[in-house]
Order: sequence, then C-alpha cells, then structure tokens
Amino acid sequence: MRPPAEYGAWGRAERIFEVTQWNGSRAWFVTRFDDIKTLLRDPRLSADAAHPNYPAQTAALALVRRDYQVFAQMDPPEHTAERKLLAGEFSARAVEQLRPKVQAMVDARIDEIAAKKGEADLVQDFAAPLPCQVICTLLGVPASDHAAIQRWALGISTRAMSHEDAAAMIKTFCDGYLTDLVEEKDRNPQDDLLSRLIVNHVRSGTLTKHKVVSLARLLLTAGHESTTGTLGVGLAALLYHPEQLDKLRRDPDLIKGAVEEILRYTDVTHSGRLRTAKEDIDFAGVTIRAGEAIIMHQPTANREEGVFDRPHDFDITREITQHLTFGTGIHNCIGQPLARMELQIGIGTLVARLPDLRPKLPLGRLEFHGQLAIYGLNSLPVVW
Ligand code: HEM
Repeated sequence: MRPPAEYGAWGRAERIFEVTQWNGSRAWFVTRFDDIKTLLRDPRLSADAAHPNYPAQTAALALVRRDYQVFAQMDPPEHTAERKLLAGEFSARAVEQLRPKVQAMVDARIDEIAAKKGEADLVQDFAAPLPCQVICTLLGVPASDHAAIQRWALGISTRAMSHEDAAAMIKTFCDGYLTDLVEEKDRNPQDDLLSRLIVNHVRSGTLTKHKVVSLARLLLTAGHESTTGTLGVGLAALLYHPEQLDKLRRDPDLIKGAVEEILRYTDVTHSGRLRTAKEDIDFAGVTIRAGEAIIMHQPTANREEGVFDRPHDFDITREITQHLTFGTGIHNCIGQPLARMELQIGIGTLVARLPDLRPKLPLGRLEFHGQLAIYGLNSLPVVW
C-alpha cells in the first residue's frame, strides 16, 4: 500500500521544481506540506480553469471546465458568490439530516452483499454505487439513471479518451441528459437540491439554467468519485492491515479517527491541486512568472516525515490534527461533511455487520487504476 516510488523522491527533492505534464506542457511542482498550505491560501494564485495554462487532467475535464464553468474553477468574487449558494446544502447541520437516509442505503447494500453467501467485490458492490446513489438522491436524480451517471463520471475522469469522443460524451451528458433533467425540475419541482436551485435562484434571476446544469455536472461527478476511490482504497487499507481492522472491530468508536487516517493515507485526488500564478511570485528561491502553472501534490505532503510520525504506517489510532486531503483555503472541499459521513457509516457498518470479512487475493494482485483523475481500485474481492 505504498505510494509510487516517485512520491518519495519528490518529497526529498527541491521545495519547488519544474515538471512536464502528460500533455507536454510545463508546470511548477510543489510537494511540501507547509508550502502547499501557504500557496493554497495565497490570493495571487488563480483556480480559473479558463486560463490557457491551467493544468488539464483529461480531455473531457478541459472541455467541461471551459463550457460549464463553476465556482470550483473560479476566483473571487465570482467564486465566493456561487459557493455561498450551495454552502447551506453541505453544512454539517444539513448533512446530519441525511444520516438516516445514508444509513438506510448502506444497510440495503450490505444486505445484498450478505446474501451473496461468502464472496463479494467491495468496489463493484459497495464503493462504486454507494456514493453515486447518495449524491444523486440529494440532487434528485432518478434511481434508474444512477448507473449512467457513474459511467459519465468515469468517462470525464479518464485520460484514455480522444478529444472528439470526450466532446460527444459531454454533449450527451450535459446538453442532453442534465439539460432535460433541469427542465423537468423546473416543470415539476421536488424536495431536492436541483429543484431548490431552480425555485430559489433561477426564478429570481440569480442563476441561469445553464449554470444549474454546470453545477449538477460538478456535484454529480466530484460529489462521488473521490468518495468512491477513498472508500475502496480505504477498505483495502483496513483489510490488508488486519491488526488495524481488528482494533476497529473491537472498538467501533475508533471509526472517526480511522476515517481521518484513511483520508490521509489514501488521498485519492492524486493529480494534485491545480493553479496558475496571477502575478510574478517569488517562492523558495525561484520566480513563478505570471500565467505559469503550479501543481501542488498533496498526497506526497500527507506522507511527509516531520509532519507525521512514521508517515507510511497505516495507524487508525494516530491522532491526526491536520491533513490536506480536502485541500485548504477558499477552495477547500465543500462536500467534506458529506464525504466523512458516508465513509464513517459505510466502513463502520460493513465492519460491524460482516465480522469475518477478509481479502480474497494477496495485495500484489489487486488492480489499482492510475489512469483516472481520481485514484482507486478496479475491484476488491473479499470472502467471509
Ligand atoms: C473523500 C472524498 C472527497 C475528497 C478526497 C475530496 C477532495 C477535494 C479537494 C482536495 C478539493 C479542493 C480542490 C482544489 O483546491 O482545487 C475539493 C473541492 C471540492 N469538492 Fe471535494 N472531495 C471529496 C468529496 C466531495 C463530495 C462528497 C462532494 C459533494 C458535494 C465534493 C464537492 C466538492 C466541490 C464542489 C469542490 C470545490 C470547492 C471550491 O472550489 O470552493 N467533494 N474536494
């Protein structure tokens, strides 16, 4: 469960150095914990994805960020105003009200797994569908369409797609499916987030329907893929560290700390935090010129000696006071209360309900996917 060897080398390298991205363009690369924290809070850095040098993770992400731009890739004041419209939906209080629904979804998935009598795949049967079901339910996407949302999210995340295929897929997903869904919510509003955006903000002229489509695109994809990746790799971390799994079985109250350690240890947003410089910035002995790209690789920082004791050890009783898995500064993850709740309920319930759960394969035979914007497992076969 060690990260690629490059992460270790990056952690020991200069505080800032230049790299070539997958598409050939250059960027500055930063890996130290304190440096990333400082830079993510620096208003001279821009998250505006419309900038030609903004690092592109995949062809499809470059397209949606251009044609369906939302606050996640904007700077203040636009970022501030748009984020504020959603803040209430993802506050700790609002998320807490979803707890019974999420618990019921988890219970139903585990009922299905338990009925399989002794063998299951925790990615396909649990980690992949559950977070998608949660965010789709919150937004008001019908259950019959959840599998399609999962496929589109995967498509947007993959590097193995040509520009033409990406454009065709986005046309179907955003211009087609999501636009129709928003129209339907406008005709027939229900008790869901998309309907609330329409009733409270489209009808008063604060938001356009195109913006609601763009926000739906962001939330339906960002709102489940990272949780899916963390749930899958996090369950694997527990299963392949049986002494840690045992501690959690014996003391279920450890679940909150266990989830923080899973977040630190797995940190699946492995493309790093992406920005460009708005002006020349002197940093750690170099000058980052206005317009240049900067990638801050927080998965390396989350394993930094000196910040974390024995950083490569997976220890669910570690007292974590901070990690960078949800970012920091104005773009910190708006969905973190929801992600934490899903992980705590999902992992806690699974461990309690299937006490004999153990991996089917040796660790070396697990298939991780590194070609997606979000890291994760293709499958996690288990027996009990
Ligand atoms: C374990 C699961 C998750 C991880 C690891 C994660 C990670 C992150 C990170 C690192 C950022 C900062 C991006 C940056 O600075 O450029 C972010 C932002 C964001 N996340 Fe999450 N996320 C998770 C779950 C969720 C969920 C469940 C939602 C559902 C709403 C969500 C929605 C967002 C949004 C909308 C932003 C943009 C915030 C802004 O720019 O102001 N995320 N996430």
